[in-house]
Amino acid sequence: MPLLSWGSLFETKITEIDNQHKKLVELLNQVHDAVQNKKGKEIMNKALTDLVSYTKTHFATEEKYMTQYNYPDLAKHKKEHEDLAKKVADFQQKYAKSSDDPLLVQELSIFLKSWLTNHIVGTDKKYAPFLISKGLK
Ligand code: FEO
Repeated sequence: MPLLSWGSLFETKITEIDNQHKKLVELLNQVHDAVQNKKGKEIMNKALTDLVSYTKTHFATEEKYMTQYNYPDLAKHKKEHEDLAKKVADFQQKYAKSSDDPLLVQELSIFLKSWLTNHIVGTDKKYAPFLISKGLK
């Protein structure tokens, strides 16, 4: 069973962003699946690395559009992205020092589920009408 399911609640109605968010949900579910099914260190590390890497790509996409169109809340939004990146980097350090404790990864995936849900619904959806008014679709 997936940790997080995509639903209309998450839609920004900007195709590229919605597709990236769907991919993030899919990658998060892959991390969860690796933990649940005890798939081992290598697969778990790969799932985690894929999620972290795609998150960076996604944040860069959003920040590019918000910068391009002078979105008034860019700084606040960027700060949320930076705070998450720092938390995940701290986690990765902690994980590297542990003996690949799957419970740590489980803890992170539950945190990310909540972060992603709150951020998409509470923060990303705020820029959607603004960017759509600038011609994004
Ligand atoms: Fe979709 Fe601001 O991250």
